[in-house]
Amino acid sequence: MKQYKIALIRGDGIGPEIIDEAIKVLDAVSSEEGFELNYNDLLMGGAAIDVLGEPLPEETVQECLQSDAILFGAIGGEKWDNLPREKRPETGLLNLRKALGVFANLRPATVYEELINASTLKPQVLNGVDMMVVRELIGGIYFGTPRAKEEDRAYNTMVYTTKEIDQIAIAAFEIAMKRRKQVCSVDKANVLEVSQLWRERVEIIAKSYPEVSLSHMYVDNAAMQLIKNPKQFDVILTGNIFGDILSDAASMVSGSIGLLPSASIGGRVGLFEPIHGSAPDIAGQGISNPIATILSAAMMLRYALNEEEAAKRIERAVKEVLKEGYRTKDLSMYDAKEVCSTNEMGSIIASMISKV
Ligand code: IPM
Ligand code: MN
Repeated sequence: MKQYKIALIRGDGIGPEIIDEAIKVLDAVSSEEGFELNYNDLLMGGAAIDVLGEPLPEETVQECLQSDAILFGAIGGEKWDNLPREKRPETGLLNLRKALGVFANLRPATVYEELINASTLKPQVLNGVDMMVVRELIGGIYFGTPRAKEEDRAYNTMVYTTKEIDQIAIAAFEIAMKRRKQVCSVDKANVLEVSQLWRERVEIIAKSYPEVSLSHMYVDNAAMQLIKNPKQFDVILTGNIFGDILSDAASMVSGSIGLLPSASIGGRVGLFEPIHGSAPDIAGQGISNPIATILSAAMMLRYALNEEEAAKRIERAVKEVLKEGYRTKDLSMYDAKEVCSTNEMGSIIASMISKV
């Protein structure tokens, strides 16, 4: 039987509870599809700070590098908010992404027909929305130097090299080739030199993909267009901070940020995580939505393990469970037949696996 080594990073807040549910579903699908997943629990974020005094222990990095894929819950919380930047939980995640070299962050945002009333947007705006945000993940203003916080001023640097732009642009065009063949590159080229270079390089890469239509949009307009007419987008190609912001906005087309998965790929080992945070305010109450993490596990099967059938099966199971009217609390105000806990949602999806 095929064996895979999966690094698990539960993290903080709702992280551990949503990872538990993803494991249930992964176990169900691996036994159906005939492969075995061996999990290895690793510390990162606040959980690592509490035990070892640092957000990303070296052992975690080494173990991750020796795994076939990494499944990650969420990190951060008020408890660690006053630490200096290098010691914060978020820095652990950023450094892990960097250490892995996962420059391409794929964030699909689709509409589930069953949940069309769960969005704050009108159904006619949402019908048929299906987009993929391709966010550059290990460069830009998140990592640029110089950076400093001084007494009466502070600064960061947004920097991209042609090499960094080229590789994320190629990733976006490759994805577009398998979709509706449209790339919208989002920048702020009317103000920033870094965006001017971005645009030039994207134009050059586009020449190798004559079938793909390329458009450019300023990020402020893109934020507006996402709300006004999200259907116009197929692949959105953008830098690190713009992608962070736009993907949260895009998540609302689906009704809850608790539904959106992501895959971070292109490096030595892929990292799979929900796009939402650790939500410490609701942790431990059994009301978090595990679906974003369960769908991230599906992306892991697809992109890291090449188990496409298993990935599709998870996605079908999620769809079916939503269709049958099961909802966690974040979606419960909209035609829920049954409101269920985090734990129940995981079990219901896991038991759906053999039926879809
Ligand atoms: C995300 C998160 C992270 C980011 C934080 C937690 C560092 O918001 O994955 O979108 O900004 O990349
Ligand atoms: Mn974010």
